[in-house]
Amino acid sequence: MNLQRLDKIIASQSGISRTDAKADIRHGLVSVDGAVSRDPSVLISVENAEIIYKGQAVSYKKYIYIVMNKPKGVLSASNDKNRKTVVDLVPPELSRSGLFPVGRLDKDTTGLLLITDDGQFAHRVISPKSDIKKVYEVLLDAPIPTDAVEKFSAGVVLADGTKCLPADLKIIEPQKARVEIREGKYHQIKRMFGVLDLGVNQLKRLSVGGLTLPKELNEGECRELTESELKNVEKRFVHK
Ligand code: URA
Repeated sequence: MNLQRLDKIIASQSGISRTDAKADIRHGLVSVDGAVSRDPSVLISVENAEIIYKGQAVSYKKYIYIVMNKPKGVLSASNDKNRKTVVDLVPPELSRSGLFPVGRLDKDTTGLLLITDDGQFAHRVISPKSDIKKVYEVLLDAPIPTDAVEKFSAGVVLADGTKCLPADLKIIEPQKARVEIREGKYHQIKRMFGVLDLGVNQLKRLSVGGLTLPKELNEGECRELTESELKNVEKRFVHK
């Protein structure tokens, strides 16, 4: 049986601080199995107890998995003193302590970003060993030479000598392409095109593994993943 303190459950599931959770419990805003519970330290079985906080049922989830359509101008981080982060954009009903983005998109990159509090999941998604492909749509500042396809598939050597794993480049229009990579080096796509003397004007992530950016999500919006979407993330699916 998974027993946890009541204040910890309320804080972790609703995104408020432990201090606020303790205060709300003492003020009688929490009931457990039909009776108001004013003791923050009481141990509760998270799987079995019916917990109501401010009139809403608390359905306990160990971890949360969120998909966001990241907008431009927002930092891929949990918190920052001065700048807005992707975690700041998570609405209160999905918010909880310990959220962080799974890998980083640059400030000016848009598209699919996963946000979770499950460190092991994040590690698996990011690790090149897992071979989870990430697909980006790229707009460039000049036409792409056709031999770029071969160069990407052979593994681009970056300006600092770092060798990238083979990547799949699909030229859609002279200055527009889709690139599939299986790792996430710092500024990787921009640096790969930099080797070809091309600048990236726009970058959007379309998919991670078998999960494609949900069409209904406008930039800045997010929602919880369904169970099947969550499984798709770790599927070795090739987005064409
Ligand atoms: N590659 C980049 O250069 N930037 C991103 O945000 C993601 C991949």
